[in-house]
Amino acid sequence: MTTFTDLIFWWPRSEPVVARATPADCDDLAAVHAASFHRGWGAEDLAAMLRETSVVAHTVRRRASAPASAFILSRIAADEAEILTVATAPPLRGRGYGGRLIAAHLPDLMRAGVRHLFLEVEAENAPALKLYERAGFVPIGRRKGYYRTAQGTADAVTMRRDLPAI
Ligand SMILES: CC(C)(COP(=O)(O)OP(=O)(O)OC[C@H]1O[C@@H](n2cnc3c(N)ncnc32)[C@H](O)[C@@H]1OP(=O)(O)O)[C@@H](O)C(=O)NCCC(=O)NCCS
Repeated sequence: MTTFTDLIFWWPRSEPVVARATPADCDDLAAVHAASFHRGWGAEDLAAMLRETSVVAHTVRRRASAPASAFILSRIAADEAEILTVATAPPLRGRGYGGRLIAAHLPDLMRAGVRHLFLEVEAENAPALKLYERAGFVPIGRRKGYYRTAQGTADAVTMRRDLPAI
């Protein structure tokens, strides 16, 4: 007899879906951002950014019909770009969504002609540092006391990754 547990194991699990973000995602992205940072970006600000031709952003959904639960957003200037934000909804962290976002994002930046990618991250932010180091970013500088935190201030680490021309 097929038990409920058998069914759970047998049932095909949907893979997370990674896609380019559009202004229609802005409410989902604002919710993820507000849950991830002290000063969340509003949906209207996000929609305006997503309309800029210099902005490239990707989302992850648990499945195609689910809301976006993680996103990454960069702004391009000539052959350089800066990752302005990466965030995953708190209950879904540690499932590889951050890694999936970077894996989709970097090739699109390369196709747009980006050769040098930068970002700034709080020196105590272990998950983000791990994510970036794993993606080949290297630290190139440190700004003392750059971020305000509940405890006072925290240093910012500037990181860089060079991308090949394609
Ligand atoms: C940083 C962040 C985007 C990572 O997203 P994610 O979906 O959890 O990413 P992943 O699941 O791909 O995990 C990334 C790495 O962090 C590691 N990690 C997860 N939680 C961790 C923790 N508490 N301490 C140390 N490492 C941790 C994971 O093990 C993984 O490393 P691995 O691939 O070597 O195993 C997410 O933690 C987040 O939204 N944080 C709040 C917003 C933020 O700080 N953004 C970065 C601003 S620069």
